[in-house]
Amino acid sequence: MTTTPRVIERIAELREVLDAERAAGRRVGFVPTMGSLHEGHARLMRRARAENEVVLVSIFVNPLQFGPSEDFAAYPRDFDRDVALCGGEEVGFVFHPSLEEMYPGRDPLKISVGEIGEILEGRARPGHFDGVATVVSKLFNIVGPCNAYFGEKDAQQLVVIRRLVQTLNFPVEVVCCRTVREPDGLAMSSRNVYLGPAEREAASVLLKAIEAGHRSIHEGESDGRRVAEAMAARIRAEPLARLDYAACVDPDTLAEAAKVDGPVLLAVAAWVGKARLIDNMTVSPAPSQDARTGTSTVEASITKG
Ligand code: PAJ
Repeated sequence: MTTTPRVIERIAELREVLDAERAAGRRVGFVPTMGSLHEGHARLMRRARAENEVVLVSIFVNPLQFGPSEDFAAYPRDFDRDVALCGGEEVGFVFHPSLEEMYPGRDPLKISVGEIGEILEGRARPGHFDGVATVVSKLFNIVGPCNAYFGEKDAQQLVVIRRLVQTLNFPVEVVCCRTVREPDGLAMSSRNVYLGPAEREAASVLLKAIEAGHRSIHEGESDGRRVAEAMAARIRAEPLARLDYAACVDPDTLAEAAKVDGPVLLAVAAWVGKARLIDNMTVSPAPSQDARTGTSTVEASITKG
């Protein structure tokens, strides 16, 4: 079934509408996005719909999380298509505030996430996670969701959001959804539209690198740095890709895993043409089998997304 979501641009109106929903005993499920929606976003909406009576998607390209040399102005925007996609997922409400509505006046106060925002993605993108934490806090305060849905694809973002919720006591359940991939394994991303055909093909090297890391662990490698090096080598072998980082870290703290003796997060970032792409997967030293298909988690995530 397809519905036409109600598009709301004003904070005051949104609050009024959602207050009425909550007063009627309905749970609000929230999917924050920057638009340019794809199947990865749709999956979050589907989960939100299954678990809540009301689903709200926000579409707001947040300038605070873009660095001065990043793609804020060029970030792909297609609002009508996005609303149609939300309608296809039977989303009831789309919150689409203007810049002025979200950040009136100059110099908004920002949340500092500290050291967790300075490693991995944060090293390449200083201030990015402060910007994410700030806008997500604002959105949580505006929306007041019962459940909020985030993708595993942005693993560090998830860690930051969980800490934010814990530190500021937001009464929100953070729900994590698996990464949705293209058939060749490339994680879906709004930024994939920047890729030309040859680059698009080369971009699947990110998952291949993670698989190389995973394989090395299964073959008995327990030195986290060597696992990271195996991933880095795979990306360096792709002429159209430029490695940013390959890391083997603790899934909760994101600290480098010196020894792989439990679950680790394998995370990579690379430039392919104009696009800076990221991917990650949490893997364990013991071969983990998918209960339903009997395939390994890496294979499973490629075939099932
Ligand atoms: P955006 O990149 O639009 O992503 C919105 C949500 O969709 C995030 O939780 C992201 O992890 C998830 N997502 C993106 N691609 C996915 C994929 N292939 N599979 C599963 N989930 C995927 O992340 C942001 O926006 C912003 O930082 C935001 C949280 C909205 C704050 O501005």
